[in-house]
Amino acid sequence: MNKRKTIQDFRAMKQAGEKITMLTAYDAAMSGLFASCGVDMLLVGDSLGMVVLGYDSTVPVTMAEMLHHSAAARRGAPGAFLVGDLPFGSYQSGARDAIMNGTRFLKEAGCDAVKLEGGLEVCETVRAMVAAGIPVMGHIGLTPQTVNQLGGYKVQGRDLESARRLLREARALEEAGAFGIVMECVPEQLAALITQQVAMPTIGIGAGVGCDGQVLVSHDLLGMFEKFIPKFVKTYANLAPLIREGVSAYLAEVRGSQFPDAEHSFVSDADLTQLLESAEEPAV
Ligand code: KIV
Repeated sequence: MNKRKTIQDFRAMKQAGEKITMLTAYDAAMSGLFASCGVDMLLVGDSLGMVVLGYDSTVPVTMAEMLHHSAAARRGAPGAFLVGDLPFGSYQSGARDAIMNGTRFLKEAGCDAVKLEGGLEVCETVRAMVAAGIPVMGHIGLTPQTVNQLGGYKVQGRDLESARRLLREARALEEAGAFGIVMECVPEQLAALITQQVAMPTIGIGAGVGCDGQVLVSHDLLGMFEKFIPKFVKTYANLAPLIREGVSAYLAEVRGSQFPDAEHSFVSDADLTQLLESAEEPAV
C-alpha cells in the first residue's frame, strides 16, 4: 500500500512541478479501487447529492449523509489522503459551526482535511478552523452550493473585474491558512496565473492544464452519470452501457431459467433420495 500523502507532500509536488491527481469517491468499493490506482487525494464531494443520492443540486446534502459516505470511503482506502466536503449550511453561519462540523469529519469519518466553498466571505472562518487544527481546502470560481446566486452553472472570472476578484480570493484564502484550493470553471489563463501567484497547490476542474492538479467527479469520468455532461468532463470509461448490458443479460437468463446453471449451484455428496422420499409434509 502507498504511504498516505500529506499537505507537505502536495506542496513539494507543486514546487517540483509534479501534477497532483484527485478524484471524488463516495463509498468503500470505489475509494479502494481508486486508491489501488495510486490517486494522490480523494474527495468525498457533496456532488454525492447529485450523482449518488439523486438530488437536483448539492444544496440538500446533509452533514449526516456526508459523514456516512466519508466514513465508508475511508474504510475502503485507509492509506488515502481523504478530503470531506462541508455541505451547504454547515459552515456559512460562522466559525463556531464550521469548527464543530469540520471536527466531525476528522473524528467521525477519519478525513484528513475538509473543503469549503467561497472567497473573501469565508476567510475568517478558514482562519479559525486552521487555528483549531483543521486542515482546510478552499473552492472558488463556480461554487455549486451558491449556484442560484451565480445565475447558473457558468464559467467565472471571464471579465477583468471578476478575474481580479478571483485572484484576490485565492490570495486571501492562502493568507487565511488554506493548504490548497479547488478552482472550478475558470478560464485557463486566469487559473494558470493564480497558480503562479500562490504557494499552495491549486486543483482545477474546468480550469485548464495550468493548475497544479486536476479533480473530476468519478461518476463523470467513468460515464455513470448521464443527466448532463459538462464541457470540462472527459469520459475515460463508459460504464453505463456496460452496466445495462450486464444487467439485461442477467434478467434474460433468470427469466429463461438459464441462471443459475450447474457451475453456479451447489450439490450434496450424500444421496438425498431417501430424505426426499421420507420427508413429511410440514404440519399446517
Ligand atoms: O463536490 C464535488 O465533487 C466537488 C468537486 C467538483 C471539486 O466539489
